[in-house]
Amino acid sequence: MRLDKLLTHLGIASRSGVRDVLKAGRVRVNGEAVKNPAFPVAEDADILLDGKRLDTRLTRHLMLHKPAGVLTAKEDNRQQTVMDVLPPLYTSLGCMPVGRLDKDTTGLLILTTDGELAHRLIAPERHVDKIYLATVDGTLEEKDRDAFATGIPLKDFTCLPAKLDILSPNLGRVTVREGKYHQIKRMFGAVGKPVLALHRQSFGPLALDEALAPGDFRELTENEIAALYAAAGLQHE
Ligand code: URA
Repeated sequence: MRLDKLLTHLGIASRSGVRDVLKAGRVRVNGEAVKNPAFPVAEDADILLDGKRLDTRLTRHLMLHKPAGVLTAKEDNRQQTVMDVLPPLYTSLGCMPVGRLDKDTTGLLILTTDGELAHRLIAPERHVDKIYLATVDGTLEEKDRDAFATGIPLKDFTCLPAKLDILSPNLGRVTVREGKYHQIKRMFGAVGKPVLALHRQSFGPLALDEALAPGDFRELTENEIAALYAAAGLQHE
């Protein structure tokens, strides 16, 4: 990859800004000052900016504790998105959310630069388990658990069987294998117990790291990345 392209992806500056950075002699590649924007750099090149080593990994996978009030989208003209919660580096690298949580939903959101991974994880036929905590208006009963287990009929489709654990009269933990638009809210709505608050605890093999406060994020560990690729049915090099 060209040096200017790499530095732009890493969010150092715009393409023209990067040229100025290079012209000023601030970048060294494998020990040599490089001013040529087209200089070809290998993936494992050692690159210093102002003497500081850059993390040149272009592939990143994150977990974000999505706070309430932000859209799950790559960008939006008017409203704050999950990308605005993260450092701009991740937007420069092309990170995208895996699936979608509603604006008022909190909890685990995975983001990745690997479009194929994101696509496979949310493909309807993939049936990746997701676990949500739902606080509802009403009292959850055994018959609701049975209805979830049978498959709730909605106007446009019948949900796959889902597991409802009643943790307290108005708090349910739901495990679903699909992820249709507003699905959890619609499922509880169908049994007459509207959702007041929704929080995602896990997505496939990954659980939300309890050390992350709303708005916090971290990159996934190697083990978590491997588990995610396996859940997607993809080989991870
Ligand atoms: N189901 C919903 O209704 N909302 C979400 O944000 C996620 C699942």
